[in-house]
Amino acid sequence: MKILLTGGTGYIGSHTAVELLAENHEVVIVDNLRNSKRSVVERIEEVSGKQISFYEAHLEDTETVSRICADEQVEAAIHFAGLKSVGESVADPLLYYQLNLTTSISLCQALFENDINMLVFSSSATVYGNPERIPLDEKCRATEAANPYGRTKIIIERILRDLQQANPAMNIALLRYFNPAGAHPSARLGEDPTGVPNNLVPFLTQVAIGMREQLVINGDDYETADGTCIRDYIHVQDLAKGHVASLEKLKTNPGLVTYNLGTGRGHSVSEVVQAFERATNQPLNKRIGPRRPGDVPSTYTDPALAENELNWRAELTIEDICRDAWRWQEENPEGYP
Ligand code: UFG
Repeated sequence: MKILLTGGTGYIGSHTAVELLAENHEVVIVDNLRNSKRSVVERIEEVSGKQISFYEAHLEDTETVSRICADEQVEAAIHFAGLKSVGESVADPLLYYQLNLTTSISLCQALFENDINMLVFSSSATVYGNPERIPLDEKCRATEAANPYGRTKIIIERILRDLQQANPAMNIALLRYFNPAGAHPSARLGEDPTGVPNNLVPFLTQVAIGMREQLVINGDDYETADGTCIRDYIHVQDLAKGHVASLEKLKTNPGLVTYNLGTGRGHSVSEVVQAFERATNQPLNKRIGPRRPGDVPSTYTDPALAENELNWRAELTIEDICRDAWRWQEENPEGYP
């Protein structure tokens, strides 16, 4: 199939592009390069050994996106594009509502105009807010995110559900990612955060390479075995494969489907730090700090639904994540050129 990837030069989009190409799909990327670099396109082509189409465009520009869909004869879309910094969304909620919602609506209009009826949406486990129960399954309440970023995901899920109900021929997969981390094993693709990383793994790699002085562990007094927070870290390669599997599922006309993408295993911050120290063979400069507001003590998925219905499961471990993230950081200390 020919697949449109919005935000395809971003972290998850770029890894998914490579997996799609490996499965003989064709890839068309639309990205405005707000939080990514053009050189990612060459890296995708280098790693995959295949050519892709790239358009630098704003998704809000429905006319342009619609024309790209028509010219390229796009058959399905994966919507990665969007702002994703929790802190920024608290400081500037209007930016998040404006951008994440208008781009999603505009994309849907362009798809609609071109009779494209397969869409995969990058949602997040953030829609579960403070988990109703763990492990989290897809039936858990998903309406209580703790910040504006998370609320944009909830609202977009809602919009897509309404859209699918009004147009039963549409097939939509909402993919709720747990904690994506790691990098492509070639070390040519990886996470390239702008500014100070919000997330644990890129912060760890930047401390280890000397870009940041010290990791602050956000609290060790939670009700968990070692007192630090537990998350479900999924290797970006596994996540990329989950997108390919979701597209296969959409071909069977399921209507709207929702899947949690995670490993089903939780690791504490201390465990991640230890795994990372083993991967780098050096101790990391770290200290215990206060809790971070908004953090839930523990969250991980029940992976059964995705495993059963997508015939997919996360294979890689926290050791693989740490090894690949570190290799990417070492070989690309400045990120992408
Ligand atoms: N952490 C630290 N020190 C750091 C960074 C993180 O101790 O410097 C801790 C956090 O407090 C948390 C854990 O590492 O306990 C993981 O934190 P991340 O920020 O990497 O991940 P979150 O689980 O907070 O965030 C992820 C996604 C968000 C999403 C959120 C809620 O990155 O996009 O899950 O589901 F909104």
